[in-house]
Amino acid sequence: MTKNLTPPVDPVEIERAVRVLEAGGLVAMPTETVYGLAADADQESAVNATYDAKGRPRNHPLIVHVAGPEDIAWWAESTPEAELLARRYWPGPLTIVLTKKPRCGLWVTGGQDTVALRCPSHPWAHALISAFSGPTHRGLTAPSCNSFGRISPSCARHVREDLGEKPSGKLDLILDGGPCEFGIESTMVNLSGARPEILRHGVVTRAMLEETLGRPVPDAGADAPRASGRLKSHYAPRTKAELVAPEALAERARELSAEGLALAVMAPEVLRAALPAVKRFVAAPEDVSAYGAFLYEALHELDAAGADRILIARPSDAPEWAAVDDRLGRATA
Ligand code: TXA
Ligand code: MG
Repeated sequence: MTKNLTPPVDPVEIERAVRVLEAGGLVAMPTETVYGLAADADQESAVNATYDAKGRPRNHPLIVHVAGPEDIAWWAESTPEAELLARRYWPGPLTIVLTKKPRCGLWVTGGQDTVALRCPSHPWAHALISAFSGPTHRGLTAPSCNSFGRISPSCARHVREDLGEKPSGKLDLILDGGPCEFGIESTMVNLSGARPEILRHGVVTRAMLEETLGRPVPDAGADAPRASGRLKSHYAPRTKAELVAPEALAERARELSAEGLALAVMAPEVLRAALPAVKRFVAAPEDVSAYGAFLYEALHELDAAGADRILIARPSDAPEWAAVDDRLGRATA
């Protein structure tokens, strides 16, 4: 849907970004999931600067973004299942965790012996990484381009409003590649252990992974490697937010209104008429892809409404909604 809103790749901007990255600078990189905060994975000081810009603890590992499946072996011990998944879903919104090779610095992995690898499909990200990679198959660390614990950016405006460009902001360059096609972070699968497991749900679903691998891919247990996306309260708006069953929404809204609270509500349009007066109403898309692509923009809008409370109608709990349900659960934790 948002695909055709992607502006054509500007080779001059890409070249500029490559120079910034080589000099150890920070670049906001559009990807098909969310905007990433890119730095040269080989430069410890550049990678450390991303932690500082985000205010993120140094022991939370970063994803290395690579140009293609042939780069896996430069960073990690590849496996047949990693090859299978990479050939099937790269470039695209899937991140694969493997045992790292010595080339991959501990500054990337937060001291862990595994590394997360991803090859994004967004034309700007792809052009940037391909131009940057070179004969030594360099990679770009890129966490989501937001302050730690806040909502991920799904367009360049979100990045400008949060981390911003120097001198007033923290980034050396923001590439504007239009709104992100998927709008929620990549699926993360851990292949560093005896059996594959899901570390984070995304657009590549469990069913897709299981179909490709031909075996179950359960959720990771509590002993899984550290991942900030697994913190209970993540992706959170500043305004207190509640997830409410659709049938209880009108009642809850009336209750809070009666307490004098101003409300910002996201729900299907059909529920709107039953609500009391609210400060901001955001119509929730019915289709899961549209919902995912719109989710962070919606959370930004709801948060900016100046309401006392955000109410979100809980969408479907069908398997294809797992990634959306997961992010909503954390946004309202
Ligand atoms: O869609 C995405 O994956 C975006 C775009 C920019 O590519 N990136 C992204 O990065 O979401 P970040 O850092 O915001 O989230 C990556 C998550 C973090 O929770 C991190 O802790 C976890 O992945 N992670 C990174 N390396 C890991 C590893 N070796 N083992 C387990 N978890 C890891
Ligand atoms: Mg993040």
